[in-house]
Amino acid sequence: MLLTSADLRFPTPPEQLFGRKGPLVVEVGFGDGRFTAGLARRHPDWNIIGVEVSAASVKRARSRFLREGITNVRIYKGNGSFLVRNIVPAGRLHRVYVNFPDPWPRKKHHANRLLRRPFFALLSTRLEPDGALWLTTDHEAYFRFALEEARSTGLYRIEQKPPPPPTLQTKYAQKWLAQDKPIYHAVFTRLAEAAPHPPDPLVPMHHARLSGPLPALDAFTKLVHRFDGGTAVVLEAFRRVGRDEVVFVTQVDEGDLIQDLLIEARPDADGGLFVGVKRFGDPLPTRGVREAVHCVTEWLAAQGLTVVDRRY
Ligand SMILES: C[S@@+](CC[C@H](N)C(=O)[O-])C[C@H]1O[C@@H](n2cnc3c(N)ncnc32)[C@H](O)[C@@H]1O
Repeated sequence: MLLTSADLRFPTPPEQLFGRKGPLVVEVGFGDGRFTAGLARRHPDWNIIGVEVSAASVKRARSRFLREGITNVRIYKGNGSFLVRNIVPAGRLHRVYVNFPDPWPRKKHHANRLLRRPFFALLSTRLEPDGALWLTTDHEAYFRFALEEARSTGLYRIEQKPPPPPTLQTKYAQKWLAQDKPIYHAVFTRLAEAAPHPPDPLVPMHHARLSGPLPALDAFTKLVHRFDGGTAVVLEAFRRVGRDEVVFVTQVDEGDLIQDLLIEARPDADGGLFVGVKRFGDPLPTRGVREAVHCVTEWLAAQGLTVVDRRY
């Protein structure tokens, strides 16, 4: 039910995730998952991917789906725009639900909003003809913002409608209704598609080989490596007890994908030093991961080791 990087190709044929054909539906930000569960029950033929950034929500919703015997939902823990860009094949999405998205009310935070023009352009390439995004929100300013962003792409027919009853049952709907707040709803139906938005390239999990002794770690301070598209931060370096091996604790931020990973520097069979990514944490082999390996390799080189081979 919970998708891991081993399940994912860029893009991933939905049949591979569900073991059957069916309309592909995505819910972004499912929170406690009660809407998703209802949707799955009402449409047993739909293949539904719920995407959610919050680990606590993923845990709660997963328990709910298991408890309620829901079998046509897959969970992706991560960002909705990442899922749509990389996992969903072009022209395959039947529908997207966004219920009560985080409104990011301050102007300087508007860039964090999901429903901006770039997302609508991307989505138009992933929706099937007549596929649609259904938005329900209590936040009038974000609602107007989303309408305007979608309208500016010229790619959607936009209809404002009364919210469908199931969207008024979500945890946040209940919260706002209890405060007598109005709820807004719109359907954005794809009319045309933008120029292709290809998925991010996945790079082979490359590594480097160096020669020379592992350095003392006293001199290590946090490394920050900026590259086009993100930042790799090597936070800490630890020597493994009883082993001639160093592990670097690293975070790679590529906008809508943040990965925590461990990079190891250890002796290899040929008497050299191998620098590469440990499987721990199931990282996706993105460009940012490669940049992190590069960053650690450069630090080791600066400590006097010789780079024999860069396989990244
Ligand atoms: C205000 S809550 C609404 C939850 C639920 N839809 C409801 O109506 O009760 C917004 C949810 O969206 C999630 N979220 C925010 N931005 C997201 C993104 N870009 N991708 C996936 N989930 C996101 C948050 O973690 C949070 O659980």
